[in-house]
Amino acid sequence: MKIRNHYTKLMFASLLVCLIFIAGCASEDVPDHDVDVHTFANVDDVVVTHMDLDMALNFDDQIISGRASLQFNNLTGSEEIVLDTRDLTIERVTLDDGGEETEFSLGEFVDYLGQPLTISITPETEKVNVYYETSPEAAALQWLEPEQTAGGEHPFLFTQSQAVLARTWVPCQDAPGRRITYNARVEVPEGLMAVMSAENQQERSPDGVYEFTMPQTIPTYLLALSVGDFDYSPLSDRIGVYAEPEILEDAAWEFADTEEMMKAAENMYGAYRWGQYDIMVLPPSFPFGGMENARLTFVTPTIIAGDRSLLSLIAHELAHSWAGNLVTMATWNDFWINEGFTSYMTNRIMEEVYGRDYAEMLWHLDYQELIATIEEMGEDNPDTRLHLDLKGRDPDDGMTAIAYIKGAFFLKMLENNLGRERFDDFLLQYFNSFAFQTMTSEAFLSYFRGIVLEDPVREVPADDMEEIDLEEQLKLDEWVYGTGLPDNCPVIHSDEFAKVEDQIDSWIAGTDASDMEVENWTTHHWLHFLMNLSEELSHEQMVELDNTFNFTETENSEILNAWLLHAIEHRYEEAYPALEEFLLSQGRRKFLMPLYSKLAETPEGMEMAQEIYREARPTYHPISYQSIDEVLDWQN
Ligand code: BES
Ligand code: ZN
Repeated sequence: MKIRNHYTKLMFASLLVCLIFIAGCASEDVPDHDVDVHTFANVDDVVVTHMDLDMALNFDDQIISGRASLQFNNLTGSEEIVLDTRDLTIERVTLDDGGEETEFSLGEFVDYLGQPLTISITPETEKVNVYYETSPEAAALQWLEPEQTAGGEHPFLFTQSQAVLARTWVPCQDAPGRRITYNARVEVPEGLMAVMSAENQQERSPDGVYEFTMPQTIPTYLLALSVGDFDYSPLSDRIGVYAEPEILEDAAWEFADTEEMMKAAENMYGAYRWGQYDIMVLPPSFPFGGMENARLTFVTPTIIAGDRSLLSLIAHELAHSWAGNLVTMATWNDFWINEGFTSYMTNRIMEEVYGRDYAEMLWHLDYQELIATIEEMGEDNPDTRLHLDLKGRDPDDGMTAIAYIKGAFFLKMLENNLGRERFDDFLLQYFNSFAFQTMTSEAFLSYFRGIVLEDPVREVPADDMEEIDLEEQLKLDEWVYGTGLPDNCPVIHSDEFAKVEDQIDSWIAGTDASDMEVENWTTHHWLHFLMNLSEELSHEQMVELDNTFNFTETENSEILNAWLLHAIEHRYEEAYPALEEFLLSQGRRKFLMPLYSKLAETPEGMEMAQEIYREARPTYHPISYQSIDEVLDWQN
């Protein structure tokens, strides 16, 4: 907007022709505002501010029956409120507290998005009460059989609302640019524990009834529920972990540094504003590494490595308490506003707690992944832009290394150019200024220019060379709206990884694996080692590595994953039982996808993949099996 006004002014300065040309370019590349194309809700007319949920869980039929009461402000005197739903059965809808039923209709089904629920209201209506049931196919819900848990005796349910799946278990305005508070009452089978992305109990309710209050506002993709046989263990006075009794002690040991990470984050980015921070360790079918549900991060048990080596994932989900949960992308097109900031902050937190060498290794691993992604996607691919155009597509398509790592490197580039102190001050101010609000690419750039370049860029006096140079140097628009990787991307050097590369070279040159210098190597050294081995290894070389370093037997999921990719590539059959076990025992999409894809490259591999998948698929989360179905061309 600012740019436009400014052009208007300048037009009178008789630079007409030239300026029309420039303005034309600017409006093509830089969108004015972003409409959320992934919601049906009439969010500009009616703004939902609070939800009251009342839900009963039926594990036998895999159904939640509930009431969602939505309070709203009707800004335009609208006579309808439109909500997002997907696979919900709507029984009836009443208005306010009187119990008077009102008319409603479900619109046409759209892929990924579900159906709009249009409810008749009057301009005076303040609340709708929707009585509904979920479907056993609800994509946000995974109902686990007892065998899929560590304890093996009780069923388990967990939700995954991001990106647009909240609407499969709660009718709502499912748009990241809108925020609500909520209260909930949830009835679960007696004896089970229940927690939400809200204020939680630390003890079980004997009657299976739980009440939750969420006092801070959140977008609906952070709405979460987990129910099962699990307990709580405190890690500090404001941090704790929930896990099945069988793994609770291991989990508490693994995550013991969380308070230290929290302090590091608070020192840089300001106070943690959500009260409690807990970690919920889910059963292994959880399709992600972690999910930053407000006040209650969900994590995969595959990060419990026994040596605290995979904690950057905790730092990542914790960092979302600022980037994403506090300052939230306005639409899915600006997914990097959540994940890029978070990925940058993750490495900063890890540096504070574990030192520079450690952080350099993380940056280096990130960088390699980014380069590989851009190469694979093609550097002119529009999806290599930070600001995406996801119209007509599943917002999950934005979940690539671009949002995460290109986003992180963009911020690292800013840090390098401004100096750490100045950039940290800027970020602190950013979080304070936009807490509990939303952010777009455009608003970020204009805020950055306003604070750091002193004035909106076009209004910088021509004699202020320093500021103009900085604008040129940073290439802000190229980073956000351009494809590929700008040439001012920071170069990463890791002394530790240089040592790893030396060892690879000397092994390739004939040194025995047992004579390699690998003392004090951490998980990250090994990952770098495995990811930089030649693609052509003989069977003897695979045997030598395995006999020396016991990769097939490792308890570390990341190392195992990297090793198994080599095993498939080089038909190292000694590792196939471990491969099968890994594919059958956990459902993390990040591990499953590369392994199944690699198997699918050869006819024998494909056959093996299909056989394992037949058995494994029923245990996977819809988010995982929908992706793998495509890779294996799976027909039900
Ligand atoms: N918010 C994401 C998970 C997500 C993104 C779910 C988009 C659905 C749609 C979470 O914070 C995340 O990024 N998880 C990563 C781990 C991280 C260390 C890169 C994951 O699960 O792989
Ligand atoms: Zn994330």
